[in-house]
Amino acid sequence: MSVALYPGSFDPVTYGHLDIIERAARVFDRVVVAVLGNPRKAPLFGEEERVAAIREAVATECAPIADRVEVATFDGLTVEFARRRGADFIVRGLRAVSDFESELQMAHTNRKMGPDVDTVFFMTALEHSYLSSSLVKEIAQLGGDVTGMVPAAVERRLAARARSV
Ligand code: PNS
Repeated sequence: MSVALYPGSFDPVTYGHLDIIERAARVFDRVVVAVLGNPRKAPLFGEEERVAAIREAVATECAPIADRVEVATFDGLTVEFARRRGADFIVRGLRAVSDFESELQMAHTNRKMGPDVDTVFFMTALEHSYLSSSLVKEIAQLGGDVTGMVPAAVERRLAARARSV
């Protein structure tokens, strides 16, 4: 059985991420979406809320592949978590050339640490290639409309956050 790990901060998950999850599930038997507990930048959403949003979005918006997608949190090295989950592949999305440099560096570094785990890239769908979690958060915090950028599960959580400040 082929297992792929899709690691990220997912703060929050966007339609760009969901598209990668769906497409990875067409290639691999199982996709483990791995939510980094403590990303470098302080996250807006706690890890459990990020996990809950991804689970809800996958269940409601990617129903045909939902039973082959697992969402988990991790801390520490991605390659170590991949090994623990029996994943031979790490999946990442590439939006533009600007992503390439850092992704190439990460892929090579991960391969050095874990030669048994290979990184596979999916080109982000053109219609989502402008999306970033950081911009989505900024727009929502400034009262803008993020419809079409993030799944309903995230829109609701962003709106609740905005009301609570
Ligand atoms: O969504 P992001 O923030 O672009 O994801 C970055 C992520 C989580 C994939 C990366 O920071 C990572 O793998 N962190 C875990 C620690 C680790 O393995 N560092 C070495 C990477 S070469």
